[in-house]
Amino acid sequence: NDSPIGIHDLSFATTEFVLPHAALAEYNGTEIGKYHIGIGQQSMSVPAADEDIVTMAAAAAAPLVARHGSDRIRTVLFATESSIDQAKSAGVYVHSLLGLPSAGRVVELKQACYGATAALQFAIGLVRRDPSQQVLVIASDVSKYELDSPGEATQGAAAVAMLVGTDPALVRIEEPSGLFTADVMDFWRPNYRDAALVDGQESISAYLQAVEGSWKDYGEQGGRPLEDFAAFCYHQPFTKMAYKAHRHLLNYSGHDTDKDAVERAVGASTAYNAVIGNSYTASVYLGLAALLDRTRDLDGRPVGFLSYGSGSVAEFFSGTVVPGYRRHLRDAEHRRAIARRTPLDYAGYRRLHERSFPTDGGDHPTPAQTGGPFRLAGLRDHKRLYEAR
Ligand code: CAA
Repeated sequence: NDSPIGIHDLSFATTEFVLPHAALAEYNGTEIGKYHIGIGQQSMSVPAADEDIVTMAAAAAAPLVARHGSDRIRTVLFATESSIDQAKSAGVYVHSLLGLPSAGRVVELKQACYGATAALQFAIGLVRRDPSQQVLVIASDVSKYELDSPGEATQGAAAVAMLVGTDPALVRIEEPSGLFTADVMDFWRPNYRDAALVDGQESISAYLQAVEGSWKDYGEQGGRPLEDFAAFCYHQPFTKMAYKAHRHLLNYSGHDTDKDAVERAVGASTAYNAVIGNSYTASVYLGLAALLDRTRDLDGRPVGFLSYGSGSVAEFFSGTVVPGYRRHLRDAEHRRAIARRTPLDYAGYRRLHERSFPTDGGDHPTPAQTGGPFRLAGLRDHKRLYEAR
């Protein structure tokens, strides 16, 4: 069966609150240009006390189920690196909140920010085996670094949900993929910590090494030449990284690093990430959402994807945008999800950052803060209790 397989629909959700970088800069004395220009970030999404990767994921996926139904969804793949349980997949809660069919499988995947791309590729394999099924791929993460650390300005949170199936309406995912794995300690989070550890400069060079490695393999596997691509979606821990990565790729492949050409290649993909911040697994697909929502002339044109997960694994692959894609977009909802967030002042952000979940197994309702469709109602007997609002 040769029918094209890819992303049929895509939707994202983010948090109740947002911290403008101006508020962080005012608190810590940083010249705002470092945030706005140096790393390319305007604001970061901050979860409310009753939001987490499950509530964001369910909010991202609900519109897909509302539009397409759930009869054909037999698999849910949930990618995250801010997991809430060592055993149970966060996707099972989402499966329940959305009322998905019990005749299905749900699993959680992890390899830092790369996890969602693994999920997308595995989904394609499942659909190839049974073209009648659709796979719900969800990427959901809360990026959290220590207060007053260099990583703090690159926090954020969001979930992207994608419906993968045959004859997709948005993007046909193509072969081959270029792959790269290297054992590096650039960014990691031991099980006993909720904030990540990172070697900032090492992480940037590890990322650029991975761009090179995956592009090299992509070429050796018979991939497209660079000139074919209308645009690129890079993993964006901060949006400036997409520019760094693309300049690196141009240099490595012997092309000029013309400023306008780099802007044309990656600029549109940074619009959502610049105001949401790092959403780890979701970040590269938030880039795709922004690119599709903000570009009119992608009918039939190839887009390059570079997915990077610290530690590290990277994959370069291409997708062709399906003619007529604009009819299926959710740009108004996406803009609303960003605009509806309530700005925090620095003290309010710090209070939320310093919250930690009680570990005593007692009955702990969470304050009602989110205006989103799902909330974490509380903890009881070491169990998370979710509800639809
Ligand atoms: N006006 C304009 N630009 C300014 C400026 C000003 N006033 N002041 C500084 N800048 C520029 C700097 O020149 C620099 O730009 P270049 O990199 O282009 O030279 C940029 O702002 C950042 O400045 P610094 O490098 O001095 O910033 P820093 O030491 O505080 O750290 C960081 C930056 C390493 C990205 C840090 O935020 C961090 O550790 N972030 C978390 C790790 C991360 O995101 N790594 C990315 C690769 S790993 C990955 O991708 C996986 C993942 O999701 C985590």
